[in-house]
Amino acid sequence: MTEWLDVRFDHIRRAADIISQGGIVAFGTETVYGLGGLARSRSAISRIYSAKGRPSFNPLISHFASAEDAFREADLACPLGTTARDLAARFWPGPLTLILPRHPESRICDSVSAALPTLALRVPRGRAVQELLRLVNAPVAAPSANRSGRVSPSCAAHVREELEGRIDAILDTGPCIVGLESTVLDLSGEKPRLLRPGGLTRDALETLIGPIEQVAPLAPDDHSPLSPGQLSSHYAPTLPLRLEAERPDNHEAWLGFGPSEFTLSDRPSWNLSLTADLGEAAARLYAGLRYLDEEGLKKGCTSIAVQHLPTEGLGDAIMDRLKRAAAPRPLLRE
Ligand code: TXA
Ligand code: MG
Repeated sequence: MTEWLDVRFDHIRRAADIISQGGIVAFGTETVYGLGGLARSRSAISRIYSAKGRPSFNPLISHFASAEDAFREADLACPLGTTARDLAARFWPGPLTLILPRHPESRICDSVSAALPTLALRVPRGRAVQELLRLVNAPVAAPSANRSGRVSPSCAAHVREELEGRIDAILDTGPCIVGLESTVLDLSGEKPRLLRPGGLTRDALETLIGPIEQVAPLAPDDHSPLSPGQLSSHYAPTLPLRLEAERPDNHEAWLGFGPSEFTLSDRPSWNLSLTADLGEAAARLYAGLRYLDEEGLKKGCTSIAVQHLPTEGLGDAIMDRLKRAAAPRPLLRE
């Protein structure tokens, strides 16, 4: 049975107790909902992988209430240790995940990092998640709370649709404000590398630390564990996507951006932002993909046509997710 909890303090405490006792709980962050368990518990981590149906070569992010807690798990004597401290001081709590060499004494399970010598560390923003992490007072590993390869959840109802009965509790902290996963930045080498564009823009990062190298997505059948989040098919609805469409054809649902030129009476449509605001578009993206997929299938649509979006600012991460959703599907995803 999956317990349904809301943001009352005693419910946050209940969620923290379940996690502390080795259970797994979905909770909201500013980016998307995560499915959390103790990063030091092999059994909790193995339950997370199996609830999601996630392949074990794809490592998890560990979440902390503060940068101080997060950096205890990392070896900051690495070449980019100072960069990590600068970024944390400026952007944590917030939608940024840092990949750093693991501290030799870190007790985070090997299964969290898929046996890599690095760890993914994040301090999320949001009162409920901060309170939860403070109460647990130990690293909490949490992938996005969706079935592997599917669209990430940006509200608690999305989590319930996919994981009810497979996890111990859902803490409903309301809709996620950012709506896209965190930006993943690799600081484990000599130069910063962007592994996943996300809720914090590249511009914001580069203003502080200078140019960042972008890592190209892996081919769909490449299972290399080096930058696993780069798999090209990911975040996928059931219906195929057609990008850069000018208008939907007769059998397509429509994902629009900006002032609308037409309405569809017989097929579903969703506008990401009538005022062409990329922040609003990011926050509405996953709910829109879920809606169009569900309603489009009911109405016999063959695909989802997607209007052109700019690629500056958050548009970079939005287009990254749309391209992955449109990529050919491998047998094994995420
Ligand atoms: O916003 C987010 O990041 C959300 C919330 C819940 O925090 N979490 C999230 O987790 O999106 P997930 O598991 O869906 O994505 C984590 C990404 C994956 O692409 C994974 O491959 C990458 O981080 N990752 C984790 N550990 C890594 C490591 N040691 N080296 C390289 N990539 C890593
Ligand atoms: Mg995910």
